[in-house]
Amino acid sequence: MEKLLINLFDYEKAAAERLTPTAYDYYASGGGDEITLRENHAAYERIKLKPRVLKDISQTDLSQTLFGQAATMPIMVAPTAFHRMATPDGEIATARAAAAAGVIMILSTLSTCSIEEVAEVTEGPLWFQLYFYKDRAATLSLIQRAETAGCQALALTVDAQVWGRRERDVRNRFRLPKGLSMANMVQTGKESFPESDGSGLASYVTWQFDPTLNWKDVDWLCSKTRLPVLLKGVLHPDDARMAVEHGAAGVIVSNHGGRQLDTVPATIEALPGVVEAVGNRLEVFIDGGIRRGTDVLKAIALGARAVGVGRPIIWGLAVNGEKGAGEVLKLLRKELELAMRLSGCSSVADITKDILISGD
Ligand code: FNR
Ligand code: LAC
Repeated sequence: MEKLLINLFDYEKAAAERLTPTAYDYYASGGGDEITLRENHAAYERIKLKPRVLKDISQTDLSQTLFGQAATMPIMVAPTAFHRMATPDGEIATARAAAAAGVIMILSTLSTCSIEEVAEVTEGPLWFQLYFYKDRAATLSLIQRAETAGCQALALTVDAQVWGRRERDVRNRFRLPKGLSMANMVQTGKESFPESDGSGLASYVTWQFDPTLNWKDVDWLCSKTRLPVLLKGVLHPDDARMAVEHGAAGVIVSNHGGRQLDTVPATIEALPGVVEAVGNRLEVFIDGGIRRGTDVLKAIALGARAVGVGRPIIWGLAVNGEKGAGEVLKLLRKELELAMRLSGCSSVADITKDILISGD
């Protein structure tokens, strides 16, 4: 009898049974001792809710706009790499699930299906996550291809120009399975990992990603695209302020799912400082550790416009491809709607700090 999967944790357990140990470790792992990885969700559990009652919550509206682009709920698919390691249709399956759910998908530079392939099957808004290569021409080509393919925003990842030490990948000597490559990089001959010890991905990043990335490059990027640019991986309020000065339209408060610098705060702990610094001048998003509808509720109450979900989408893909990823999004939507109703919120606009027990 098929096991009932009724929450995102069930999907992770079921995915672990289906993925190779090396693939599961790559997707699940965090940097260092994985303290931030654990904290990203644990921090949500420490935030208590203070519901309002006697509000007619018979009708709910979960819709939200992100940079003016309509979404059915304040939840996005965060950019994660190598989806074909989880399901044969890879990012095409993810994009179909996101479009069916009416949510925005952010496609990774390191996807195993190309921007063009994914854009072809995506009716909904697709954003592109950009890694800055040492090869400036290759970086520019990614930007131009994303625009031509119809992507509607660019998320520049700013916390991973040097690679976090994911010890599981080092022990497993992580490599992409045969037949998989970084589909966007075939044109520039950068689609495979170099021969190396330890994590093949870490060696690839050292070989290809530009560690000199700085604010002048943000200016360059903004000069090369008409799309809204958001910076993904901001934790410090002063970096959020600089994002405004350098033309960004938004930031994603992120610690890369705890995969980069270990013992940085959980993203929900960093969010209030960023919102206070720039909340009225940028759209502020958050990702990391979102596993329950109450996590989404708390993030919105603390000022996020929407949240990104990473690993749970992969667990859905591993369990049942497009359908599995769609189920994960449906479960999270159902949990968010219940959390809203039980806290007296009928719309995203109703979700304010008033429903939180203040930390201070
Ligand atoms: C990521 N993340 C990531 N970020 C990015 O900017 N480009 C990328 O290619 C990837 N790839 C990637 C792969 C895997 C397996 C994971 C787990 C994460 C980070 C991702 O966008 C996001 O910040 C986190 O995944 C959010 O945390 P949760 O939801 O996974 O806890
Ligand atoms: C990771 C990349 C691909 O965290 O961002 O694995």
